[in-house]
Amino acid sequence: MAFLAAFSSAISSLGKPSFTLFRHFRCMNNVPENTVYSGPVTHSPSQRVTLTHLRQKHRNGEPITMVTAYDYPSAVHLDMAGIDVCLVGDSASMVVHGHDTTLPITLEEILVHCRSVARGAKRPLLVGDLPFGTYESSSNQQAVGTAVRILKEGGMDAIKLEGGSPSRITAAKAIVEAGIAVMGHVGLTPQAISVLGGFKPQGKNVASAVKIVEIALALQEAGCFSVVLECVPAPVAAAVTAALQIPTIGIGAGPFCSGQVLVYHDLLGMLQHPLHAKVTPKFCKQFVQAGDVINKALVEYKEEVIKGSFPGPLQSPYKISEREANDLFNELQNLGLDKAASAASEAVKKFDASK
Ligand code: KIV
Repeated sequence: MAFLAAFSSAISSLGKPSFTLFRHFRCMNNVPENTVYSGPVTHSPSQRVTLTHLRQKHRNGEPITMVTAYDYPSAVHLDMAGIDVCLVGDSASMVVHGHDTTLPITLEEILVHCRSVARGAKRPLLVGDLPFGTYESSSNQQAVGTAVRILKEGGMDAIKLEGGSPSRITAAKAIVEAGIAVMGHVGLTPQAISVLGGFKPQGKNVASAVKIVEIALALQEAGCFSVVLECVPAPVAAAVTAALQIPTIGIGAGPFCSGQVLVYHDLLGMLQHPLHAKVTPKFCKQFVQAGDVINKALVEYKEEVIKGSFPGPLQSPYKISEREANDLFNELQNLGLDKAASAASEAVKKFDASK
């Protein structure tokens, strides 16, 4: 209100609006001054991480941090922790949907995850995975179409695709040419377990290691801004990182990458149940056992409900005055609801006694 009053008094004191006044207000809006078009609206005071920021970090030798997120709360957590890149990974298929592989997740499902994450993570660069079966067709039309949907309907800033076959490289190039930033993914590419023969580390012999270096170089040539290296020996990751001018993001690839990525549920030790432990890979460090903390809280809640100690007066905040309670008692009796009337009156007494 004070702002509006100041604004209208400024207008009336001038008689008619001046350019100076409007320039002043232009500076106060949320449109970055150095952009030609208004571009995406800045929702929070902290600026969105862009490819320029990542390039700067890479040039300065500062490690890039990336974590997966699949919903609003995980996105908020990443944002608050200052993680650089938030990946809406197809690992959602395993850690959220409970499948054994990343293959079943659909584009529609990934889009729901993307939109939820976009609402929660305002600062990190948002990267959405292209799900299996949505970009492999020999024409690049399918890949570009999927990538466009990830940005347009999912609210992501960039996409990630797996593999390095010639058709995949062409698809990456076509997506970049369509104006969409692409992150590559080599080494263990979980969408290709059918040909890899399972979730197996890659690059363990010269031929396989050299192929990884070559594919990473081809992805860079296609215009990718970064490449994920999954489950390769550390010296192979070091070789790829040294060969490339773009940053490498390692997962199970040792410390010699430009950055690191982990799956949210894995690093938080979310899935402690013996039946679910199979999805926590051995290269992952659990920085907390959130699964144990959650389990303890749920068991405590269950026990308190059974004992009757939850909810107590503190968690029953909606009050009724003594007069209203008496009137209610009488009204219920008039309606012939004697049991309901005594239940209400008993509750008033019990609550008063426990205060
Ligand atoms: O889907 C995913 O979570 C990923 C990471 C493992 C890089 O691709």
